[in-house]
Amino acid sequence: MKSYKITLLPGDGIGPEITKVTHKVLELISKKFDFDLKFTEMPFGGSAIESNGVPFPDKTLQECKDSDAVLLAAIGDPKYDQLPREKRPETGLLNLRSSLDLFANIRPVKIFPSLTKASSLKEEFINKVDLVVVRELTSGIYFGEPKGRIKTKQGERAFNTMTYTSEEIKRIAEIAFKLAKQRNKKVCSVDKANVLDVSQLWREETIFVSNNFKEIALTHQYVDNAAMQLVRDPSQFDVILTSNLFGDILSDIAAMLTGSIGMLPSASLTKDGPGVFEPVHGSAPDIAGKDLANPIAMLLSAAMMLKIALNENEAGNYLENAISQILDAGYRTSDLMSSGTGKQVGCAQIGELLAEKLK
Ligand code: IPM
Ligand code: MN
Repeated sequence: MKSYKITLLPGDGIGPEITKVTHKVLELISKKFDFDLKFTEMPFGGSAIESNGVPFPDKTLQECKDSDAVLLAAIGDPKYDQLPREKRPETGLLNLRSSLDLFANIRPVKIFPSLTKASSLKEEFINKVDLVVVRELTSGIYFGEPKGRIKTKQGERAFNTMTYTSEEIKRIAEIAFKLAKQRNKKVCSVDKANVLDVSQLWREETIFVSNNFKEIALTHQYVDNAAMQLVRDPSQFDVILTSNLFGDILSDIAAMLTGSIGMLPSASLTKDGPGVFEPVHGSAPDIAGKDLANPIAMLLSAAMMLKIALNENEAGNYLENAISQILDAGYRTSDLMSSGTGKQVGCAQIGELLAEKLK
């Protein structure tokens, strides 16, 4: 029997409760499709600060490196906001991304037909939406040097650097073009080339890479326009290729098209080595421990893991279908309740409903 090693990082806030549901569902699906999953749970984020004094302990990194895939729930809590930057949960996440060289962040946005009413946009604008944000994840302003804070005669000054090398742009552009090849053959590269030098290089290298993908239609949008287009006419997009910061912002906007940010999964991939699969949403400390969380983004991330990291396509599709069926049957976590529709259920109950389907 095939066997895979999965590192689970439950993290903070709603992380542990959505992990519990996802873990149980994955156990069932592996039985159904006849493969073995070996799970190891490791400390990460704020909970690792509590247990180990740092957000990303060395033993967690080692375990991630030794696994076939990493499944991460969410990290962060306002109670760590006062800590120095290197001790904050978010720094642990950035270190995870850079230690595993997870330069390619794939965030698919697909509308579940039964949820079109849950979106804040009118149904006719979103029912055809099927796009993927390809976000560069290990460079750009998140990691650029120099950065810091200095005292000057006029007071304090703080700065970060938005930087990309040609190679960094080319490798993420290639991912976007390859993905577009399997989809609707369109790439929209998002930058701010009218103002930023770094974006000019981004645009040049993207055009350079596109020469190897003649069948793909490449367009360019400035990031401010792209933000507007995402709410004006989101179905124009197929693959959106963009940098770290712009991708962070645009993927939150794109997530909301689906009705709730609680629906959006992601995969963070490297050339060869384990990928990290995680929901786009955060740790939502305000609703943690109340059984109100929506586990679907994490479940969909698990489905991406099955398909991309483990090549268990059938199992991944089965899980996605089971989730669709539960939504079609009207079950909704509180974030998806729109006036008068749906049967409200908690996080754990979504797990139980899925378990029924996976027997
Ligand atoms: C995301 C998150 C992270 C990011 C935070 C938690 C550091 O917002 O994955 O989109 O900004 O990349
Ligand atoms: Mn974000």
